[in-house]
Amino acid sequence: MEQTALKQLASRLSLEEKVGQLVQVTPDFFGNQGEITGPLRQGADQQKLYQIGSVLGTHRAQEVQQIQETYLANSRHKIPLLFMADVIHGYETIFPIPLALASSFDSELIQKVARSSAVEATKEGIHVTFSPMADYVKDPRWGRVLESNGEDVRLSTELTKAYVRGYQGNDLKDETSLAACVKHFIGYGAAEGGRDYNTVDLSDIELYQNYLPAFEGAISEGVRLVMTSFNSIHGVPVTANKTLIQTVLRGKLGFEGILISDWAAIAELKDHRVAENSREAAKKAFEASVDIDMMTDCYSQELADLVEETESMEALDAAVWRVLQLKNELGLFENPYRGMKTTVDKKELNEVAYEAATRSAVLLKNEQVLPLKKEERILVVGTKATSTDVLGAWSWIGDCHAAVSLAEGMKKEFPHLTILSVAEETVEWSAIEEAARQADKVVIAVGETSEEAGEAASRTDLRLREIEQTLIDRVFKHNTNSILLTFSGRPLVLTEVEPKVKAIISAWFLGSQTGSVLSALLSGAQNFSGHLPMSYPRSVGQLPYSYQEMSTGRPKTSENADQKYISRYLDEENGPLYAFGHGLSYSQFTYSALELSAKQLQKNGQLTLSVTIKNDSKQAGYALPQIYFQDEFTEVIRPKRELLAWQQVNLQPGEKQMVQFVIEPDDLAYVHSNLRRTTDPGAFRLFLGTSAVDILSETKITFVG
Ligand code: BGC
Repeated sequence: MEQTALKQLASRLSLEEKVGQLVQVTPDFFGNQGEITGPLRQGADQQKLYQIGSVLGTHRAQEVQQIQETYLANSRHKIPLLFMADVIHGYETIFPIPLALASSFDSELIQKVARSSAVEATKEGIHVTFSPMADYVKDPRWGRVLESNGEDVRLSTELTKAYVRGYQGNDLKDETSLAACVKHFIGYGAAEGGRDYNTVDLSDIELYQNYLPAFEGAISEGVRLVMTSFNSIHGVPVTANKTLIQTVLRGKLGFEGILISDWAAIAELKDHRVAENSREAAKKAFEASVDIDMMTDCYSQELADLVEETESMEALDAAVWRVLQLKNELGLFENPYRGMKTTVDKKELNEVAYEAATRSAVLLKNEQVLPLKKEERILVVGTKATSTDVLGAWSWIGDCHAAVSLAEGMKKEFPHLTILSVAEETVEWSAIEEAARQADKVVIAVGETSEEAGEAASRTDLRLREIEQTLIDRVFKHNTNSILLTFSGRPLVLTEVEPKVKAIISAWFLGSQTGSVLSALLSGAQNFSGHLPMSYPRSVGQLPYSYQEMSTGRPKTSENADQKYISRYLDEENGPLYAFGHGLSYSQFTYSALELSAKQLQKNGQLTLSVTIKNDSKQAGYALPQIYFQDEFTEVIRPKRELLAWQQVNLQPGEKQMVQFVIEPDDLAYVHSNLRRTTDPGAFRLFLGTSAVDILSETKITFVG
């Protein structure tokens, strides 16, 4: 629609109709059953149903079509509804969970996954996805780390941007493009104690340094929507936090798109006790410039009167305009049923799901037990051996019955396979022990259910469940060649079981192709290439934890480890069991020392860092050289080491390749006490590593500011 026609349409809306555009409800209001992802509060009354602007959580195109038809037939201005949904790691074809995808450290792969999700979701009538989640995280007690890109802000920013590019494509008019909604603004991942929805308190430096950049990245890619988070920050729930929204999000970050509340978050301002009633809740959210009220009746009941009372028609018009603009950009006025007629190549989607899962699994330990050989007698046993609960939390359309379990995948590759599943009620230990004795190798498959990770799934104990630990002990007594394969939406605490197994694989939740991919990885038909985007802690007592340990006045060093007054635990090491960036491969890579194009970096200049990598094995594979840096002296404390750059390099057997990283002064910047991100002149140490703790070589440069 032409802009002038759209403006005329906007001007014809009554006050109530304008408010309606800002109200979002589930399909239940139209008599259909939608996806319920929060407590049910009233969203809009029936009378106002044909004025609302958007719907969330429909399942299929047919349902979207039916709701849209009924709506258009009954509404005065026939402004099509926007349909939104949580398309987080695929729609029907399920890709690995985001934390698993982040293990690929590969933004091109993630862009491809997001594109594929968009193609499938738009075909089912979806216009907007509530993804990506850009929350900075360092506490795996919080179940939603599953949806994150892990604990490094640079990695997370790059991957967040890739999701946005993938979903939105080049043009939103393209019927396979989905508008993206980056969430949750802001600080949600810092919930105290890792308890979901809990209070957050962050310093401004921390906020600017670690929490905002991924959102800034999404905005730079043109993300159309932002979602507010449930938590409070600086003492004020974000949904009512004028400073953070107006000054930071809309001001400093320059976001001009739609701001939507999280599920029922406006009404929850009453539970936070910062609003006495719905009127006040609506007022605070609206004044903060939250455009859409997801699933409460605060806007629908209160906003019209409020706008009159406070003479804020201009603000209302601006919010409505943002919604109408998006509808127009998506081409909904011309085609309210957009996307439904496109064709989806399921085979191609499955191939992407297979590739993504292959690149996402992480080999944490391997003492020469993997790969498995075809002629070996293998026992696969555990709570997850035959489970099809492998898709992960946000796979509401994905059919877990159609997913390939580990045992099913392995059956096709290993002729001498015994499968024993373990469920709480029916464990036959003697049969398991006998089978373990008979086997050459044992694959122990254990871990979380999809209910145990994700939203509202915080945990204080991240060890395997008791029966799984017993299983490992019992197998260990009879067979020491076992491979532990864990399914989880978060890093687990494996410190106690680690010595009892020869190999460990973090399989996260890998999606529809799980069993086929794991089987191919176990046999060596495929190679491991995933690296941890989040550290595996040694103990829950270390949390929150990030590899970016800050400098302290009393750091622990190799010289002072026996002294008392240093920063350490009495009963545990400081570091993780498996560090950020760690991940093994069947290939063996050798790395040259780091080489510099110059020792000095000039203002507005560049320098190039090179390393030559050789694949010294008989198997093709991906190497992941990781460059870390340390600013030697800083104005505010900074981490001992932080990730600067990385590259996935595919190398054939015997192949050698030089990899280059271009470094500019901005790459070395940090947030100072005046909240400005600038680079200090002076010395910087640069490290080449295969994880945050496995450092192969080091060099130094000076920035001449
Ligand atoms: C979650 C959001 C999600 C929304 C809609 C909320 O409970 O926090 O991430 O997008 O529900 O389903």
